[in-house]
Amino acid sequence: MNNSGMGEKATELYTDVMRGLSKEQKYLPSKYFYDEKGSDLFEQICELEEYYPTDCEVEIMKRDINEITQLIGQNVQLIELGSGSSMKTRLLLDHCSGLVMYVPVDISGAFLEEVAAGLRSEYPHLEIKPVAADYTSPFPIPESEEIKKRVIYFPGSTIGNFRKKKAQKFLNSLAKYLSPGDGLLIGIDLKKDISVLEKAYNDGKGITAAFNKNILLRLNRELGADFDTDQFRHLAFYNKQEGRIEMHLESLETQHVQVNGTKVSFEKGETIHTENSHKYTIPEFEEIAGDQFSRKQTWTDSRDYFSVHYFEKV
Ligand code: TRP
Repeated sequence: MNNSGMGEKATELYTDVMRGLSKEQKYLPSKYFYDEKGSDLFEQICELEEYYPTDCEVEIMKRDINEITQLIGQNVQLIELGSGSSMKTRLLLDHCSGLVMYVPVDISGAFLEEVAAGLRSEYPHLEIKPVAADYTSPFPIPESEEIKKRVIYFPGSTIGNFRKKKAQKFLNSLAKYLSPGDGLLIGIDLKKDISVLEKAYNDGKGITAAFNKNILLRLNRELGADFDTDQFRHLAFYNKQEGRIEMHLESLETQHVQVNGTKVSFEKGETIHTENSHKYTIPEFEEIAGDQFSRKQTWTDSRDYFSVHYFEKV
């Protein structure tokens, strides 16, 4: 197989992958985790005992749903970024009587359609308008005359998967979709005891490891690569300097792999950096949000592990 024989999607994947694997510190863009299998594994991560963020965020959403609903307001279009199974969203859809349209945006098109079909039958009064897109690039937002306000929902501390500069830039780009008075409801994981953090990304069942390695299986399938996933080990640790969990795949041997006919070599112990998950304090995050957004309210769970913020577009 050569470049010209590939579809447009595969060519983009190949270009992105080779860019990452030719760096001194090899890396793979984490958006490629989320094929159908990856999205499914990710849902399983969210249900793990060790993975506290989901429980904490749900605790907050349940306890403070009335305040949250109040801030979201009336005649609202709710846009969720990286919606996945839209689990937490159901709390909002159940309680916010002011919603007129729900727009789940997700990179996994097949997964999105399944979820949208389910939501349509559960919430027949609500317009459900999924957008299959990589939300880090501009994407179209459906319109309707009933909509008087937009609220972007970005749960799960997904913003933490961006580097700080990129997070700032991304929030600035989101502001362009919003008018003054519109909202941003966002979940942020907080700095805490390192052992709690590291356990969350090194679960006992090995689901996070399987999720991490799934990216290699995707390259095998979609680019005809020949990664042997037994020759790589899942690695997740807290980098205190950067304030983030890093995920890597460590090569257990010196080995050569081919990706669409291009040879890639690994030394024993060399890693592919696959994901970052930044942890913030509330003031640190407020600085990231910058001057486009003003913080109206912050809620944390009973252990102060996680935070949900409502920002208003200035
Ligand atoms: N944003 C969440 C976090 O960083 C979820 C997440 C993204 C995640 N990529 C992941 C969780 C990889 C585990 C492994 O915690």
